[in-house]
Amino acid sequence: MARIAVIPGDGIGREVVPEGIRVLEAAASLHGVPLEFEWFDFASADYWTRHGTMLPDDWFDLLRPYDAIFFGAVGWPEVVPDHVSLWGSLLQFRRGFDQYVNLRPCRLLPGVPSPLAGRQAGDIDFIVVRENTEGEYSSIGGRMFEGTERELVVQQTVMTRVGVDRVQAYALDLAARRPARHLTSATKSNGISISMPYWDERMRQAAERRPEVRVDQFHIDALTAHLVLDPGKFDVIVASNLFGDILSDLGPALTGTLGVAPSANINPERTFPSLFEPVHGSAPDIAGRGIANPIGQIWCGALMLEHLGQPRAAAAIVAAVESVLTAGTQLTPDLGGAARTEDLGRAIASEVARVE
Ligand code: NAI
Ligand code: MG
Repeated sequence: MARIAVIPGDGIGREVVPEGIRVLEAAASLHGVPLEFEWFDFASADYWTRHGTMLPDDWFDLLRPYDAIFFGAVGWPEVVPDHVSLWGSLLQFRRGFDQYVNLRPCRLLPGVPSPLAGRQAGDIDFIVVRENTEGEYSSIGGRMFEGTERELVVQQTVMTRVGVDRVQAYALDLAARRPARHLTSATKSNGISISMPYWDERMRQAAERRPEVRVDQFHIDALTAHLVLDPGKFDVIVASNLFGDILSDLGPALTGTLGVAPSANINPERTFPSLFEPVHGSAPDIAGRGIANPIGQIWCGALMLEHLGQPRAAAAIVAAVESVLTAGTQLTPDLGGAARTEDLGRAIASEVARVE
């Protein structure tokens, strides 16, 4: 029995999470995967209004026993400043549960137009593996001589051997499981002359373990250009925290609407629960109207099933999403249709049984 903590959060998180669960339940019952869901109301503006904090004090012990966290979105800037809601919840989970891999599949789905001309479904299909705990996003540094002419600021990039090795190893193993067996490392060792050559050196060493994977590297500036000009030539891309952050917004942008993009924050050793959340936020501009696209959340369910060792149930969800998009009769307004969140969710859930 896999136990899932469900945290819908704010705004459209509360509208898309029930659809994600609906589809998960359909896939789980069909493939005999026992799942148990428990819902939590924290990590939301409502909770903050009632308690003055985003999370209960014992959140770590409360969530730790779960096999995974199925997360919607957090943020309601009218009530809680964004830095408070994000640092007070999601970033606590990522750090506390050592979710050092941030995974973003970027795939052009049928019926979803790409901003790139002439691309068809299947032409773009890569995954960004972002280091999620160290690198450029460190709190080491400071400010001196504030307000004087000598004013100076320093913020250090931190790369540890453990931190670099584990994320590169994860990406390499992921590439080995995919048909293309191709891993691209994002670097900038021509300009950042200490930490990035180290990143490259560790990558070369790691690659020796898996000769079946073709490993190459691109400087981050050139890589962004290649991704726009010829995204089809990439398979798995591994990157430091900052470069991965940039690539993981570029990727979903290339593959159309924000509403369909999933992401995962993974603790590969399974010492702690991993967290699955759509790329989009709480979308206050459309929240409460029942028109949000639930596909990003639903696809997160597939990523979660894969992590739980259920690849067939996961594949059924992805196939159902593709089939409903191809049919094109139940599309939400962001995809040019007039369907409601729940219509699209129900259509995918019933398709799960049919694509078998
Ligand atoms: P957003 O992703 O919530 O919305 C950006 C635009 O995309 C909006 O116009 C929205 O209507 C549209 N959109 C997003 N998801 C959609 C969906 N599923 N279907 C149809 N349209 C969709 O980003 P925004 O507006 O910058 O942030 C809103 C709040 O969400 C803020 O409080 C922000 O901090 C938070 N946020 C939370 C994230 C998280 O929980 N991981 C990630 C990004 C933002
Ligand atoms: Mg970002």
